Amino acid sequence: MKITPKGYSNIKNVDFNNLKFGVNFSDHMLICVYKNGSWGEAEIKPYQPINMMPGTQVLHYGQSVFEGMKAFKTVEGKVLLFREEDNFNRLNKSAKRICIPEIPKDIFMDGLHEILSLDADWIKEGDNFSLYIRPFIFASGQCIKATISDEYTFMIICSPTTTYYAGDMHVLLEQEYTRAVKGGTGSVKAAGNYAASFYPTKLAKEKGFSQIIWTDAENHEYLEEAGTMNIWIRIDDKLITPSLSDTILGGITRDSVVKLAKDMGIEVEERAISISELKEAHQNGRLKEAFGTGTAVSVIFIGSITLDENKMQLPKMENSYARNLKANLTAIQHGKIADNHGWTTEVESSVASH
Ligand code: COI
Repeated sequence: MKITPKGYSNIKNVDFNNLKFGVNFSDHMLICVYKNGSWGEAEIKPYQPINMMPGTQVLHYGQSVFEGMKAFKTVEGKVLLFREEDNFNRLNKSAKRICIPEIPKDIFMDGLHEILSLDADWIKEGDNFSLYIRPFIFASGQCIKATISDEYTFMIICSPTTTYYAGDMHVLLEQEYTRAVKGGTGSVKAAGNYAASFYPTKLAKEKGFSQIIWTDAENHEYLEEAGTMNIWIRIDDKLITPSLSDTILGGITRDSVVKLAKDMGIEVEERAISISELKEAHQNGRLKEAFGTGTAVSVIFIGSITLDENKMQLPKMENSYARNLKANLTAIQHGKIADNHGWTTEVESSVASH
């Protein structure tokens, strides 16, 4: 791997007390190009513009996939990556579905550790801080025929973050537009999935909602996801989240929450949740909590769910599962409690040759 350190840092220009999600980038980036049937040598260099001709394929047909993952700093100053192997596997699952050549594990892992080692100062200590890492691969060949590219670029960029949404989410049940269909790309992180979600989300935001809850494409009767997150509800003392399928993204936070909840003795069901079940549980006072999970948000409370004119307000729970799950997840990520599942990996500061 070729490494060209920046030699100075832009970190002093960033106000870590007023971080907006995703607008600041750390000093370095990784870039690796696939050409003539194989991936070339990865390079880490200062964060900078990339050259692109107007005929570059990703601009026309959206052949692109991405990941979202996070690194955290412990109180002792160690850098911990959370479930890196799972993000690596999911990136390649997405790549396969979009006809992008899979990225070799050594390029992904070595590059990831080097960049974090170089940019470790960008990860601040404290429960609310993390470095959001964005690996992505896009079609970088030139051709405007609607066809698979023969050249791709893999990159990793990093952005310091705190919380994604301020406060609880107020969500609208979407019954017109659809995020994902059977046989489609909903279970992978294809860039186009997100582009297609913007318009319905914008309409909901104009009505004062923070996000939408996607429902199934056929009948708009079953809950699928909450915006870019997996959705969870608590009925009585049971947690329920839709089971994984073609139309649900296999969230790594979702999987972590399934396991943590079980560790905490909470009953978890992965199964379909219908709007009728949701309404009935709310009417009977049995709908205790709803929340979303995702890498960017961790665990976020849903304050209300609206169906047409009917706003279902969620109670404030004393013993909130969402709060306890978030606290445990955050404590594991920051190395404060035992990581019994082996989810965290320490980044050695010595790997970078600087
Ligand atoms: C994540 O949680 O990493 C996501 O994929 C959301 C992202 C679109 C910001």
